[in-house]
Amino acid sequence: MKRLTELLDSNREWAEKINQEDPAFFETLAQQQAPEYLWIGCSDSRVPANEIVGMLPGELFVHRNVSNLVVHTDMNCLAVIQYAVEVLKVKHIMVVGHYGCGGVAAAIETEPHGLIDNWLRHIRKVYQKHRELLSAWDNSHQQLDRLCELNVIEQACNVCETTVVQQAWANGQDLKVHGWIYGLSDGLINDLEFNAANAESVEEEYKLAINKVEKLRELVQNSEKTQNARSLWDKVRSIFN
Ligand code: CO
Repeated sequence: MKRLTELLDSNREWAEKINQEDPAFFETLAQQQAPEYLWIGCSDSRVPANEIVGMLPGELFVHRNVSNLVVHTDMNCLAVIQYAVEVLKVKHIMVVGHYGCGGVAAAIETEPHGLIDNWLRHIRKVYQKHRELLSAWDNSHQQLDRLCELNVIEQACNVCETTVVQQAWANGQDLKVHGWIYGLSDGLINDLEFNAANAESVEEEYKLAINKVEKLRELVQNSEKTQNARSLWDKVRSIFN
């Protein structure tokens, strides 16, 4: 059988390089991990968690699945959240979606995709919930951008509603939940400004974030040329803040 020589060689080079920069790096890391962040992102190969935020091994606890969903019956995701919150005591959980997400796009297509449609059903629910907001966008590309954003906000809200996060907040633990979206075409993260720091703030944060997505429509209508999601969000931020 052929080994994946290229990848194994490249791993040797990578470890060697880090060793040269910091000979104690791996030894120290092997003793314990103490990341401050839990990243819940999409499995998409173009959204590598650590690289995007310039973090080294040990700095980011990561869970990824198709379209960064947080489903209350998904033991895998819940176990990650529990370990991150109760054992590692991370201070931040960020749900990170990305524009042009294939899973989100597939969720609103009419043709069947087999087993994965059961998973994508959760995004379809988001679509149905915000159908009115989304129908204001006639451009399908922009509609997809908005659904990707709304999906992040809904999933961040789901994180807040898990028993683990609710319990942590009830205990007074320092823990914040954020919603971000990454742009594949420019490598930049767009903060969707969902930042919940306690159980009481979740509803307000949710409403504000949804309001901002709604507001984007006005901005597009009032401008002569179509703008990308980032410049729209920059404007919305300047209006609200
Ligand atoms: Co994706």
